[in-house]
Amino acid sequence: MRKSRSMSLSRRNFLIHAAAWTAAPFLPASAFAQSAYPTRPIPKTGEQLPIVGLGSTKAVLQLPERGTAGFKLLLRTLLDGGGTVVDTWSRDASLDKLTGEALQANGMVKDLFLATKVDAKGAEAGREILARTRRLFGKTSDLIQVISLRDLETQWPILKEWKEASKARYIGATVSSDRQHEDMMQFMRGERPDFIQVNYSVVETQAETGVLPLAADLGIAVLVNRPFMNGGYFSRVRGVALPEWAAEFDCHSWAQFSLKYILAHPAVTCVLTETTKPKHLRENLGAAYGRFPDVKTKHRMREEMQFI
Ligand SMILES: NC(=O)c1ccc[n+]([C@@H]2O[C@H](COP(=O)([O-])OP(=O)(O)OC[C@H]3O[C@@H](n4cnc5c(N)ncnc54)[C@H](OP(=O)(O)O)[C@@H]3O)[C@@H](O)[C@H]2O)c1
Repeated sequence: MRKSRSMSLSRRNFLIHAAAWTAAPFLPASAFAQSAYPTRPIPKTGEQLPIVGLGSTKAVLQLPERGTAGFKLLLRTLLDGGGTVVDTWSRDASLDKLTGEALQANGMVKDLFLATKVDAKGAEAGREILARTRRLFGKTSDLIQVISLRDLETQWPILKEWKEASKARYIGATVSSDRQHEDMMQFMRGERPDFIQVNYSVVETQAETGVLPLAADLGIAVLVNRPFMNGGYFSRVRGVALPEWAAEFDCHSWAQFSLKYILAHPAVTCVLTETTKPKHLRENLGAAYGRFPDVKTKHRMREEMQFI
């Protein structure tokens, strides 16, 4: 008797939280008592990271025109859904000010894992960006990355200095095109960064044969970008029915089809999905739950994409 009462209460709580998450996204995350969101460890420290994060490029670029409300709602949705990882980067002082305002709203920034980037040529420009980000984003970045390996010889030693001075918790570098994978692997072997970021998806699979196995060997955390080829993936699958066998690995949409393909790789720590829409972010966060495809199924998924 007692058992069935407690089961019905927890089901009721679940329904209340689920409804509240949909209907009142500004409520504090603690109000929802989400069941544990899936995480993976950062290899160098063991710190756990939620396995789906938010790429903020589009949302941030819309700030001057649309104001900060939409971006704040996205961040709230991320936190309420169990995520913490936000990838962003400094553009200029006025946009960084707006980004920082959204990040700091209701103290959200302290609950986020904030990944930023340096996009600069020359030491002075690099240091200026780092200082501005630190001042305007309201927190020491959890991760600072050299964007697209740009001016790596100059920027990487600066990031090492910043980490030694406790002005960054982790450091790394990004690429987003297959052409840069060789250079990324050279950097990984030489410098053993804490993190790397790389393009990888059910369509862009090259990382499987180089960057991802190397990251696993060297104990480097991996953020994945371009899970949807910056939207090109959705143009490709538009009007195509999701294969029925996708349900075998708890996949309910084309977005989850690519995300589950990515998350099935054991070297992946977190996949960044860029969106401006809370509804899409919830769907993307949902890909972390349930089963992932095995090697044979991943092969079938790649084949499926060849005919679309
Ligand atoms: N060199 C670098 O460092 C680098 C380069 C590229 C990207 N990145 C990082 O990676 C992040 C990911 O960006 P990406 O460019 O690779 O984009 P992406 O995540 O591959 O695709 C984003 C596009 O997919 C759409 N979308 C997202 N979720 C959806 C869903 N559930 N259903 C339907 N459409 C959906 C978005 O539109 P809606 O807004 O309509 O949802 C947007 O147009 C970036 O924000 C950035 O943080 C880094």
